Amino acid sequence: MAAADKKASIADALDEQYYQINLDILESFSKYRPPLNLYRFKEDVARVLPYCKAGERLSNEQVEQLAQLVDEGLVFVSREDHPVYVKHISYQLDLVLVDKNLHETEIADIFTQALTRRLGEFFSQPVPLVFGKLWTDMMVLTEYLYADANRIRALSRRLHQTHTLANHSFNSGIMGLAVHIKQQSKQYEAGEVKRKFLDHLTAGLFLHDLGMSKIPPFMLEKDKALTAEDRGKVQRHTQVGYEMLAKLDLRFPEVEECVTDHHERINGSGYPQKKQGQAIGPLGRLCGLVDSYCAMTTKHPYGEPVEPAKAVAQLAQDQGYDQELSRILQAMVMLQSKPK
Ligand SMILES: [Fe+2]
Ligand SMILES: [Fe+2]
Repeated sequence: MAAADKKASIADALDEQYYQINLDILESFSKYRPPLNLYRFKEDVARVLPYCKAGERLSNEQVEQLAQLVDEGLVFVSREDHPVYVKHISYQLDLVLVDKNLHETEIADIFTQALTRRLGEFFSQPVPLVFGKLWTDMMVLTEYLYADANRIRALSRRLHQTHTLANHSFNSGIMGLAVHIKQQSKQYEAGEVKRKFLDHLTAGLFLHDLGMSKIPPFMLEKDKALTAEDRGKVQRHTQVGYEMLAKLDLRFPEVEECVTDHHERINGSGYPQKKQGQAIGPLGRLCGLVDSYCAMTTKHPYGEPVEPAKAVAQLAQDQGYDQELSRILQAMVMLQSKPK
């Protein structure tokens, strides 16, 4: 049997309990102290046996032997160590693109952890260096979705329940992509969507509230309604965000539209420019809709979440939102809330 076939057949046989690891993944571990239990497939007895324990110190010979065994496809980690493995991979997200043994739901967990953490880091330190890491991880997501846009579904089932700026940004990004992909499903199937467009839209949706990172947290954590003055400050976040994009040299129209227009409403009831109808571009409308949906359905310091089904029904009746997008979101949420 060819080496590659042999590796695959061992992995298939053990798929349910173990993940086979490859050299990329091994290299991402601490060389002398792997962060989780490792197992070795013993061919003579056709069984998986413990190889070394989490955090155990390996000798130089063991390090060499381990690399050799990994290369032969004989080293595994247990699915019971899923949380450790997910956390580990989330620090080096591009590994999800090379690890063929991860399930779609496991990959979705990894993206959720990685992107939410990167968003949080960027919002607490919105400088180019930190942004670069967030951008890299967002591009891993778009590469993953570009290969099969339906993969967004597993991600859209992993929204955060509690509001923080990072959680909200993750949720809005994922829901925005889910609605967009549904709306453009034929174009995605036909391969007619440009990768660059998906990249920029993704960045716009995840970053729509970046201006909020400049608002002092105590103002956002208040458990009662804001004063008119405070509200004015908060409402400036779209303009502040736009200025931050320029400083990050992120001058793509898709990103700018999400940032500047997500509080504009088709009936003119929004801000800051009180734009109406077609004056608000399709991405501004998309971002506005999912932003509201995600804000309504998470727990805030000032209130409990609205049920998803109620939230979409409310949005569908609101003349401020794009009716077609609203219907797509509603159909999607109703389908998800159906018992299986
Ligand atoms: Fe906003
Ligand atoms: Fe928002």
